[in-house]
Amino acid sequence: MSNFQIAIDGPSSSGKSTVAQAIAKKLDIIYIDTGAMYRAVTLAVLQDSIEVSDAERVKKILPTLDLTFKRSDEGIQEMYLNRQNVSREIRSDEVTANVSEISAYPFVREKLVEDQRNMASTHSVVMDGRDIGTVVLPDAEHKFFLNASAKVRAKRRFDENIEKGLSNQTLEEIEESIIARDHYDSNREHSPLKKADDAIELETDHLSVEQVVNTIIDHIKK
Ligand code: C5P
Repeated sequence: MSNFQIAIDGPSSSGKSTVAQAIAKKLDIIYIDTGAMYRAVTLAVLQDSIEVSDAERVKKILPTLDLTFKRSDEGIQEMYLNRQNVSREIRSDEVTANVSEISAYPFVREKLVEDQRNMASTHSVVMDGRDIGTVVLPDAEHKFFLNASAKVRAKRRFDENIEKGLSNQTLEEIEESIIARDHYDSNREHSPLKKADDAIELETDHLSVEQVVNTIIDHIKK
């Protein structure tokens, strides 16, 4: 069978990455977490003590960054920045608080979108993000847009943070941060968060991960 592309977009914590990983596993294709790539660039900027508002310096370090994915022995997709596994660091509150500003820079998007298209050109992929169906892979065979209320998304992120020991933020703080990030991501000038006209929208408030995955697989097999 020839290569095919599945695009999954949606707001923060809408379950995209969990669902996309499960689909990749079921279909035995590659999963590309584009949010992790924007997070890795943000981490590099913070590690170099560069002000996120300093466009010139952000632009300068960009070509020095080597971003790659590797699958762990447990089958989990891990993000490497300059050969270091940064999968945990990119989920810190500091990275989360700054990633939207970094990802709004057109030169950052240009580089990462090129990398993402290259990865999708040689393999069947499921890719998740904010602009996959609209900008990165506009010709993807299958496009989905996952949504859920801010309350449900905040609760999912809160439970995940506790399970993985990622953050001490309260449920209210997480909800505020999710709403702020979505607002920023939806209103930026370049490639804002937006459902592609031909994407199937799934409201996941009352659906389990398994139900979402099965719904998507059913659509793909149609
Ligand atoms: O998906 P995740 O929450 O990890 O994404 C982190 C941030 O990266 C988003 O809030 C958004 O600012 C940015 N992003 C983006 N375009 C993508 C994926 C993520 O701008 N395709």
